Amino acid sequence: MIEVSHISKRFGHRLVLENVSFYVEKGEILGFLGPNGAGKTTTMRILTGFLPPNSGTVRIGGYDIQKEPLKVKRLLGYLPEHNPLYTEMTVRDYLFFVAETKGVERSKRKTQVNETIERCGLREVASRLIGHLSKGYRQRIGMAQALIGDPEVLILDEPTIGLDPKQILEIRQLIKELAGKKTIILSTHILPEVSMTCTRALIINKGRVVAEDALDNLTYTRGVSISVRANPQTLLSTLNSIDGVKSVAIEDEKEGIVRASIETGQEVRAKIAYNIIQNGWELFEMTPLRASLEESFVRLVTEEEGQ
Ligand SMILES: Nc1ncnc2c1ncn2[C@@H]1O[C@H](COP(=O)(O)OP(=O)(O)O)[C@@H](O)[C@H]1O
Ligand SMILES: [Mg+2]
Repeated sequence: MIEVSHISKRFGHRLVLENVSFYVEKGEILGFLGPNGAGKTTTMRILTGFLPPNSGTVRIGGYDIQKEPLKVKRLLGYLPEHNPLYTEMTVRDYLFFVAETKGVERSKRKTQVNETIERCGLREVASRLIGHLSKGYRQRIGMAQALIGDPEVLILDEPTIGLDPKQILEIRQLIKELAGKKTIILSTHILPEVSMTCTRALIINKGRVVAEDALDNLTYTRGVSISVRANPQTLLSTLNSIDGVKSVAIEDEKEGIVRASIETGQEVRAKIAYNIIQNGWELFEMTPLRASLEESFVRLVTEEEGQ
């Protein structure tokens, strides 16, 4: 549905996007993750046709954003970073206005505006002036204007920024409800947001893609967890003497069975098993320890900076 190939963008002499490529399948929710200043907003502005790239192409629904901008814009709903709204209008009037500018047929406007008001939890403020409403409501109005016209693709730039925890949950819930129905790119610098709402993530840092994968594959194995019938002290010293083992922690000991977690720097599962068996201990379980998305993110971003 979305195909970004080799886009680069300069502001003056500064290269803020360098050869960025990625795709989003129909119905997918892609988490667009990166520290502040990484280039998320710039990428989204290019995707929505607000900013031309210096090189590279963007195709949405098969149309080239530069050659057929109107066709692309009809497919898109966009929640920009600084969600600009007409503060002197009421919520309902504003959404009618958006429906009109997006070319929603006159006969369908009322139903669509009402449905969107319900869906975004705006019923009790529909007749109030936007300027009098809280940040949480304004963000929901931003989501509502993106949804008007029932676009196939939603580009949401930090949709939960500046919201309180309850409002964050509501917006996430709304996004989850759209899963499978819309193709969504959601930018954020909040990692748990990606785990909670997205199927796949793209990590960018300093204008470059550093990783792109399903969430499960983005986290790396940082060691193993084992259950062994052994004397804890002997087990500890045996494991610590294995080449490649960084640290060992005894997690638990019950009825002679020790559960330990082993941090490793390389693949040493076979060596661990061998040493346990050689000592005549019973090995009950060995499972990989996955790093959290946070740990993987920090590792990817710092690896990139170290290069
Ligand atoms: N219009 C602009 N002119 C000059 N520099 C810009 C402009 N917009 C963004 N930048 C710079 O480009 C980089 C990427 O910004 P941005 O895309 O907003 O990052 P993010 O959304 O990931 O925080 C930043 O260093 C920012 O200062
Ligand atoms: Mg941004």
